[in-house]
Amino acid sequence: MRLVAENLVKVYGDRVRTVALNGFGYTFHPGRCYAVVGPSGSGKSTLLYLLAGVETPTSGRVLLGDTVLSSLSDDERARLRALHFGFVFQRFYLLPYLNAADNLNVGLYLKTGRTDARRAAELLRTLGIEDPYRLPHEYSGGEQQRIAIARALMKDPAILLADEPTGNLDSANSRQIFRILKDVARAGRTVIVATHDADMAATCDVILRLRDGRLSGDHGL
Ligand SMILES: Nc1ncnc2c1ncn2[C@@H]1O[C@H](COP(=O)(O)OP(=O)(O)OP(=O)(O)O)[C@@H](O)[C@H]1O
Ligand SMILES: [Mg+2]
Repeated sequence: MRLVAENLVKVYGDRVRTVALNGFGYTFHPGRCYAVVGPSGSGKSTLLYLLAGVETPTSGRVLLGDTVLSSLSDDERARLRALHFGFVFQRFYLLPYLNAADNLNVGLYLKTGRTDARRAAELLRTLGIEDPYRLPHEYSGGEQQRIAIARALMKDPAILLADEPTGNLDSANSRQIFRILKDVARAGRTVIVATHDADMAATCDVILRLRDGRLSGDHGL
C-alpha cells in the first residue's frame, strides 16, 4: 500500500507557536527504505508521528492506500496502526513491568490476538539479546533500543517507522540494524527511518532532507 503525505503542516502550542512541519508532501512506496535526515528540530519525529497517525496534522492529509488517517476516529486509527504499522520510538517506550519477550508480544497480540514466545526469543537473539526474560531497566540503553526494534519487527508490519533507531548503538550494531531495516524493505515493506547518521542514511534507497519542516534539495527516485 502506498503511504501518501499531502502538504502536511503541524503547529504546536497556542501562545508560543512552533511550526514543526511546514508543507511536507511525498509518496512512499512499498519495497523501499527511506532515510529522513535533517538538523535537530527540523521535524523528523513529527513527520513520523503524523505518518503513523499518532498525531494529527494541523492541515494536510496522510493516506494509507485510499484511507485518509485523519478521517478515522481515534479508535479506528489505533486499530489501523495495530494492523499495519510498526514504530520504533526515539525514546523506546518499552513497557517497564513486562519482560523483553512480553514487550515484543504486545504488538503481535494487538494485531492478531495471539502471542508467540518462541518467535520473540528468536528475534531477540538475532538482535544480540540472549536473555529475553529481564525487565527493560535490567538491560543497557543499547540493548533496550534493540528490544524496541525487535518489538516493531515482531508483527511484520507493512509500514515500519523508526526514529533514530541507532542513536544508542556502536557502529557495528548500527550497521546490523540498517541491514535488517533494508531486508525488511526488500521483503516488500515500506521502511522510513529518521537518522542523524549520514553514513547509514547513504545506504538507504532514498534520502529525504528536511529543513525547517519541509523537504529541501534533490531526492532520489
Ligand atoms: N509536543 C510538542 N510541543 C511543542 N513543540 C514541539 C512538540 N514536539 C515537537 N515540537 C517542536 O517541533 C519542532 C520539530 O521537532 P521534532 O521532534 O520533529 O524534530 P526532530 O527533527 O525530530 O529533532 P531531533 O533530531 O532533535 O530528534 C521542534 O522545534 C520541537 O521543539
Ligand atoms: Mg526526533
